[in-house]
Amino acid sequence: MKILAIETSCDDTSIAILDIKKHRLEILSNIVSSQAKLHAKYGGVFPSLAKREHQKNLPLVLKKALQEARSASRRTKIDAIAVTIGPGLEPCLWTGINFAKELAEKLKKPLIPVNHIEAHILANFVGGNSKLQITNSKKIFPAVCLVVSGGHTQLILMKNFGKYEILGETRDDAAGECFDKVARILGLGYPGGPVIAAEAAKYNIQHTKYRIRLPRPMINTKDYDFSFSGLKTAVLYLVKNMTSKKRLNKKEIQEICFETQQAIIDVLIRKTLKAAKNHKAKSIILGGGVAANKELRKQFKEKVSKEIPYSKLYIPNSKFCTDNAVMAAISASFHFKKKKTPKENLRFPTGQGWKKIVADANLRIDGKIL
Ligand code: KG4
Ligand code: ZN
Repeated sequence: MKILAIETSCDDTSIAILDIKKHRLEILSNIVSSQAKLHAKYGGVFPSLAKREHQKNLPLVLKKALQEARSASRRTKIDAIAVTIGPGLEPCLWTGINFAKELAEKLKKPLIPVNHIEAHILANFVGGNSKLQITNSKKIFPAVCLVVSGGHTQLILMKNFGKYEILGETRDDAAGECFDKVARILGLGYPGGPVIAAEAAKYNIQHTKYRIRLPRPMINTKDYDFSFSGLKTAVLYLVKNMTSKKRLNKKEIQEICFETQQAIIDVLIRKTLKAAKNHKAKSIILGGGVAANKELRKQFKEKVSKEIPYSKLYIPNSKFCTDNAVMAAISASFHFKKKKTPKENLRFPTGQGWKKIVADANLRIDGKIL
């Protein structure tokens, strides 16, 4: 079946068209229009501005996605429309939902609601070497999933497709938000993750006197929760102290970035591995924008193979870690096939269920989608 998916939960306008077969999927198009430059001056996403941009971008992104799909496949008849309904920024979610409803009505096709967190997890089905296989469910579950993005940091126990239990989550800022806020403190721009990673990579710990030490919040607590706002505040005070007499030099900026990144990595790995050990996880699944971080990926691989070699680590290709509509299409295909979504929701526009498809900024992965 061919699914056209729409993702507008934050500041990326994305539409993808996938041809999903039983054991194989083909990406016919994947257009992501990033608004990062626009939000850079605010150091974070400005919701009303993001909504306006989505409204402007959606028709253009749709046109491109259809064109690309047509050149990839002779037959691009769409069988269903998928749309992210939450969690995310409410005005942005609504823009995508309204656009999806109009399109579904026009094409007389079913509309499938998508949970953004589940989509980040299922991005691991896109392909590559460590491709997750639907047929391998006995080897995959139970899985411990770490979703780390700009809006979320959650540890989730995945018992099967569609069966989730939230083990822990951040009590304040998300890991990505911490990267973004520290980048703002250092005047490095938005999004913070990639710039901090680039600065940290220039810092050579072996050849430099290493002085800065930042806290690893909640690293030793018994639960699976996180807290990153204290880390950001620690950086703020550190920078205030260091800049009382002079501006930060390049090396100092690199060192702060290195230590911030390492503090986040240390906490994420420690808690994820603890959850995986305690739940005898057959696999560890990462997802979300922060999972694109090279050091995080490298250190996760090292630690998992050393400490719990019986557990297989899955990380999506970097471009499918950050927001994209491919993962939304994959997620929709699971629900469509397994008929997890009530049938009437899928019969658009004759069924009435589609009316219940509304934005839910705080949608939980352990609850019902509708
Ligand atoms: O998943 P995502 O694209 O959007 C949300 O659902 O929030 O994640 C965006 C977040 C931002 O906070 C961004 O700074 C972070 O992911 N990010 C990274 C990297 N690339 C993006 N963080 C660390 N290292 C990266 N390479
Ligand atoms: Zn996301």
